[in-house]
Amino acid sequence: MATDRIISPTEAPGEQRTNWALRPESIGEYVGQPELIERLSIALEAVRARATGETSGADSPPLEHVLLHGPPGLGKTTLAHVIAKEMGARLYTTSGPALARGTDLVAALTRLEQGDVLFIDEIHRLPIAVEEFIYPAMEDFKIDICLDTGLNARTVEIRCEPFTLIGATTRAGLLSAPLRSRFGLAHHLRYYSTDDLLSILKRSCGLLGVDDADDGALARIADRSRGTPRIANRLLRRVRDFALVRAGGALSPPLVDDALALEGVDDLGLDDLDRAYLRTIGTVYDGGPVGLETIAATMNEDAGTLEDVVEPYLLQIAFLARTRRGRALTRAAADHLGLPSTVAVTGAGEKSDALF
Ligand SMILES: Nc1ncnc2c1ncn2[C@@H]1O[C@H](COP(=O)(O)OP(=O)(O)OP(=O)(O)O)[C@@H](O)[C@H]1O
Ligand SMILES: [Mg+2]
Repeated sequence: MATDRIISPTEAPGEQRTNWALRPESIGEYVGQPELIERLSIALEAVRARATGETSGADSPPLEHVLLHGPPGLGKTTLAHVIAKEMGARLYTTSGPALARGTDLVAALTRLEQGDVLFIDEIHRLPIAVEEFIYPAMEDFKIDICLDTGLNARTVEIRCEPFTLIGATTRAGLLSAPLRSRFGLAHHLRYYSTDDLLSILKRSCGLLGVDDADDGALARIADRSRGTPRIANRLLRRVRDFALVRAGGALSPPLVDDALALEGVDDLGLDDLDRAYLRTIGTVYDGGPVGLETIAATMNEDAGTLEDVVEPYLLQIAFLARTRRGRALTRAAADHLGLPSTVAVTGAGEKSDALF
């Protein structure tokens, strides 16, 4: 199944606990995303300065609300924990779909103490009815609840303590403009460079007790991690097991190649499904352009799955062009698959539209 892929950026069942152990805890341990870390550090520093500057420190305003958006597995949840820790605050976690009614939000907000952090994952799935309650909560730390209907209708104002909302989403485009505008700090997380992934892998090696890994071997894992720390850590665990059984625990570049070849992951981090998708366009449809539904029918896959789990990375590495007339292969993709470059679209003129 497409969701079982080793290179899937979403969290696999049962992976949460191991991921937890590998999560950085402080802002200093958080690798990469330099602009975001700088913006956050300044904001955190300012909050601390205000708190010590005020006569009644406890009443100073908390950190502004933060919106983190970007593809799965890049560290949004991790960062929410880091921020709470840096502020010495408690973190309450919930998600858009879990806040089904206004009262769910009231319950979540009234639990908070001064300066606490409320983390709402998948905030784009917050129901519209709940969104209306959240506006005054974010702006004035109060919720207006309407009791009764008709003639008896009255509004009750419920106050909550000043808090920081951290929203995370993989689909920022689905967020309404009013909600988006209420976040003081909004940032798009980017895919990580190979160097950053290498640092993350080195740190994970220490935590996983892998002490016999050379940099060349880790760099090979980093190259195949599709810019995503979650994938890097997952591949590392798989390679570690392979090394333990086949090489007494030592990680070398050829061993990484063998271990990942066994998983069907090639040197760019593409797996069988990615290659089957590209090959379908390349060989059956002569490089495209061809409609997504047609590709899906040929492959006997679900179009939505292909769009959500296969295409984003292929677009990111410019292997795929999404044109008005359908999907088409680029020359780089044709070369990678060893197909004649006549099957590829020539320029990047009709380049991909929305990536996320
Ligand atoms: N900057 C980083 N430094 C080190 N490790 C990281 C970093 N970012 C993420 N990780 C690792 O990647 C894993 C996935 O990160 P996280 O769960 O925070 O992603 P996410 O963006 O919340 O994903 P999703 O959208 O699926 O919720 C973490 O368990 C952590 O080990
Ligand atoms: Mg998350």
